[in-house]
Amino acid sequence: MNTLEHKRVLVTAGPTYEAIDPVRFIGNRSTGKMGLAIVERLLNKQCHVVLIHGPLQIPVPTHKNLEVISIESAEEMYRATMKSFPTCDIGIFSAAVADYTPVHVADQKIKKSEDTFFLALKKTVDILKEVGKTKKPTQCIIGFALETNDEEANAMKKIEGKNLDAIVLNSLNDAGAGFAHETNKIKIIQRNGEMISFELKNKSAVANDIVEFIEKIAGA
Ligand code: CTP
Repeated sequence: MNTLEHKRVLVTAGPTYEAIDPVRFIGNRSTGKMGLAIVERLLNKQCHVVLIHGPLQIPVPTHKNLEVISIESAEEMYRATMKSFPTCDIGIFSAAVADYTPVHVADQKIKKSEDTFFLALKKTVDILKEVGKTKKPTQCIIGFALETNDEEANAMKKIEGKNLDAIVLNSLNDAGAGFAHETNKIKIIQRNGEMISFELKNKSAVANDIVEFIEKIAGA
């Protein structure tokens, strides 16, 4: 039985770009592959998916049950997410959102002058934390984290701090896992501390594991 059928699921994916001037930005190496693999699995489960994604180098599928919102910055992802999430049952936050953004965006291309250039940055809004504050008991939210040390303790802190139902931990310590790889190795930690560890798999098999897990905790 498919208990995810007709659920509305919001997925964030890819990097954000934070503008410095009209031609430069701060970005990261996220490809969005993991998020898109999750979207594909959800569409196979007959969910209605709202995909909010940053700049991607890979094509985004078209599907009658897929609504695509393309954004660039963390602030734009925040606004789109807060608008869409209230009508969703589940949120899966796989985007690699920039933690900092320039304080000022220059109107003109910045010319080189001094040998050293200082750029002032300010924190971006924590989208997942804000969503966690608005979460209704019927909604389920899943965060992602990439930790290099004390991964389980840090993951539990994030579950508490952001009011998550579970967190998907990517490990950088495993060869072949994470950004820019075709494969990934994950652990899923639930709010009650229960942890499931998975083998190194290709991203579509990992997406399958994540969606099966979500079906277990959120399907009804
Ligand atoms: N996230 C978000 N908005 C941000 C930053 C992160 O929604 N401004 C989400 C990501 O999509 C991901 C989770 O929060 O689901 C990652 O949590 P975060 O605390 O940013 O983890 P790290 O990037 O590992 O942060 P830190 O360096 O503080 O451990």
